[in-house]
Amino acid sequence: MTTATAPAAMPATNTRSGRMYNFSAGPGVLPEEVIRQAQEDLWNCRGSGIGIMEHSHRAKTFDKILAEAVEDCRAVGNVPANYHVLFLTGGATTQNFMVPANILAQHETADYLTTGYWAEKSYEHAKMYGTIHEAWNGRPHKHTFCPSDAEIAWSGKAAYVHMCSNNTIYGTQWRNTDGSIRVPKVPNGAPIVIDMCSDMYSRPFNVADFGIVYAGAQKNVGIAGCTVVLIRDDLLAKKPRELPLMLQYSVQAKDESRHNTPPVFAIYMSGLVFKWIQKQGGLAAMHKHNVDKANLIYDVLDRSAFYKGHARKDSRSLMNITFRCPSEELDTKFIAEAFKAGMDQLKGHRSTGGMRASLYNAMPVDGCKALADFMREFERKNG
Ligand SMILES: Cc1ncc(COP(=O)(O)O)c(C=O)c1O
Repeated sequence: MTTATAPAAMPATNTRSGRMYNFSAGPGVLPEEVIRQAQEDLWNCRGSGIGIMEHSHRAKTFDKILAEAVEDCRAVGNVPANYHVLFLTGGATTQNFMVPANILAQHETADYLTTGYWAEKSYEHAKMYGTIHEAWNGRPHKHTFCPSDAEIAWSGKAAYVHMCSNNTIYGTQWRNTDGSIRVPKVPNGAPIVIDMCSDMYSRPFNVADFGIVYAGAQKNVGIAGCTVVLIRDDLLAKKPRELPLMLQYSVQAKDESRHNTPPVFAIYMSGLVFKWIQKQGGLAAMHKHNVDKANLIYDVLDRSAFYKGHARKDSRSLMNITFRCPSEELDTKFIAEAFKAGMDQLKGHRSTGGMRASLYNAMPVDGCKALADFMREFERKNG
């Protein structure tokens, strides 16, 4: 077996103990102490003499890891007792059809708020299962903002409403000026299903405002392979059609997310991240940390005539900051030079171009300071 070496492309200078500042939109940066703990547990998990990736999903060690992951997930989010915590597979994309398949009858209507690329996907998938009313269409606005209540055209008969709290690709977020979550006022008490893939547990929110919360874990709450789902009891009881057992929330809840072999390692990692968030002071502390970090970058954008941000100010994401230089050539140069300075994964999504800096929970303040300094210097040299 060869020992691990740094990839040849990684610059030799400006790295911290062989690691880059990772601004990836997902899978994203993990807390360093979580990685260190996982390194130990890969070899021998909790004194069992068996590594975490080799444990049976029915063994006592994993029973405990799963129970703690559920308990810690509840503690972090203050999840009410009438909600189940599930760890599912298939990514958030699978929720695009699991949601309507489980809670929308063919004759019913659901309202979708299309605020970005992923919300568009959710909207398209759902059409197979009932009537889907697009209560907000952000495409003509290039998804630069999330709508006010007055701009939303509800159907008035929705069985549920779907929204995406943070639009990873466009860098917009449903937020108030202080960065707290802004929840639209939905008529007739229809439950809100929320895709929180890129901001779950990055700021406080009231779980009871939603019927279902879901997030692929790979940005703020773990690694790829596990989707965290919080679902209210009454929605579990819905059965609008026959479905394979694996796709039924009620089966997954009854079987404690172990209807088949679950992603043991990914669940274990989410468990570690929930413990790490608690150690940092919980969601209020996480939010402050994230506001401080995002302000460092937005401050550079606001003082600059060189960079142009994509998001409208009132919808700016604290998680994904999207911006451009005056030309595509300068964007390319920016990304290449930032890489040489120890900052990776700053290229924007293929559908939007430019740059995107993802500042998930585990991104340290120093990473944001380094990026802000780099941005100022790059502007000075190229502006
Ligand atoms: C907001 C949002 N929703 C859904 C997805 C799709 O998630 P997955 O790749 O886990 O299916 C992503 C992925 O980046 C996302 O950012």
